[in-house]
Order: sequence, then structure tokens, then C-alpha cells
Amino acid sequence: MATAIDAHANSTRHTAVSPAILYFGTQVSLLSTVDDEGHPNLAPNSSVWWLGQTAMLGVAARSQTGRNLVANGEAVINLPSVDRVDAVDRLALTTGRDPVSERKAAAGYRHVRDKFAAAGLRPLPAETVSPPRVAEFPVHLEGRVVAIHPMGGAATPEEADTLAVELGITRVHVVESLQVPGHPNRIDPERWRPLMLSFQRFFGPGAEAMPSRLASIDEEWYRG
Ligand SMILES: Cc1cc2nc3c(=O)[nH]c(=O)nc-3n(C[C@H](O)[C@H](O)[C@H](O)COP(=O)(O)O)c2cc1C
Repeated sequence: MATAIDAHANSTRHTAVSPAILYFGTQVSLLSTVDDEGHPNLAPNSSVWWLGQTAMLGVAARSQTGRNLVANGEAVINLPSVDRVDAVDRLALTTGRDPVSERKAAAGYRHVRDKFAAAGLRPLPAETVSPPRVAEFPVHLEGRVVAIHPMGGAATPEEADTLAVELGITRVHVVESLQVPGHPNRIDPERWRPLMLSFQRFFGPGAEAMPSRLASIDEEWYRG
């Protein structure tokens, strides 16, 4: 049944607007990376999309995460379920960079060296890359950089403000409760509760909207 909110969102009268951000809703992760000395960093990210066994990440070039990805080329994408939102929020407005840039300091950012401790999370060794996994999160995707695309026409990652980072996934870990019974390689979307970001605010997934025609394809078809 349509609610008053739905009716408002579905109105057909459009107006040209100029939003400062275009964050219409994406999945939240904590990216773990390591620096030159092997020190781990953990940072909230909401710019990831997937094609095949590749994850495309949007990362600020001058963040510690951006620097680590350029220098070391490895990451773990740690996906929280919605009930772990508090741990993600504890890392908001923090950076592994020291000193903090003037722009970020003015917005309230502070330097934190031990992000795992600040978030109340435990590191777990990864199996194929050097950055650690987040023990408390139900999904970990380990990956290696395949290519770094400087955005905005910059010639090199060093000159860019933002980077599109192509990460080839090398291993996926999930908690057993998310596996479809009898199908160890399939994740049960009924039980997987991703955390979403919409215009700087956290949301959880709603109920399934309707049966999906795409879902008539066996998932194994995509492996080819
Ligand atoms: C929920 C959330 C989502 C975010 N998404 C992104 C993102 O997609 N890309 C990005 O570069 N920064 C994103 N940020 C901001 C970074 O986390 C922030 O710049 C942080 O200081 C980076 O940490 P680091 O310097 O230790 O890498 C996000 C922050 C939060 C709280």
C-alpha cells in the first residue's frame, strides 16, 4: 500500500536542483589497507560497485586509504550488516593522515592512528593480502589493485583529487549463517542485511520489493 511518503517521492512534477552531493544511496563498507610500514588503516567507504569478480572503489586520493592503495595495492572490503552501524559511525570524521588537512580539520575531522581500537573492532589476518579483515563483520572481500584510474582528467594518481580503484577480488569470506543451505557459494539475500548510506545518513534494507525476473537465471551462469 502506498504511503504518504511514497506518494510524495513519486510525484511527477520535477524541478531542476543543484545538490552538493549525489549520494542517492549506496552500500557502506570499511576498507582496510596498510601503509609502507605495514600499519593498518580502516576507513568508511560508500563508493563501491561490482562487476563479475571486480570491485570498483571511489576513494579520495589524499586520504590515508588512497595513499595506501597507490603504495601497496591491496585492500579488504569489510561489509557490515546494518546492526554494526555504530562501529562504522565511530570512524566517521577520523583520518589516518597526520597532520589532518585544514579543510578536514575545519569540518571536525581528527587524526586516529589505531582505527580498529577506535571502532571497537578486532583485526583478523587476511589470507591473500596484507591488510587485516574486520572480525566482527559478516563479509570480507580481499582484493588486489588491477588499475587505478585518476578521476577528473588528472594524468597521475598524485595529481588527482579522487581515484577510481579497480580491485580484483582474490578471496571472499562470509559467516555461515549467510550461506544458502545446500549452496555453499551462494549468499542468502533474505538474511543479508547491508548497511546503506543515503545523503550522509544510514539506512537499512527494506523488505523484498517484488519477485525478480533476473533471479530466474542460475547464479552459476555468471561465473562463465
Ligand atoms: C559512511 C561514510 C561513507 C564514506 N564514503 C566515502 C567514499 O565512498 N569515498 C571516500 O573517499 N571517502 C568516503 N568517506 C570519507 C572517508 O571515510 C574519510 O575521508 C576518511 O577520513 C578517510 O580516512 P583515511 O584518511 O584514514 O583513509 C565516507 C565516510 C563515511 C562516514
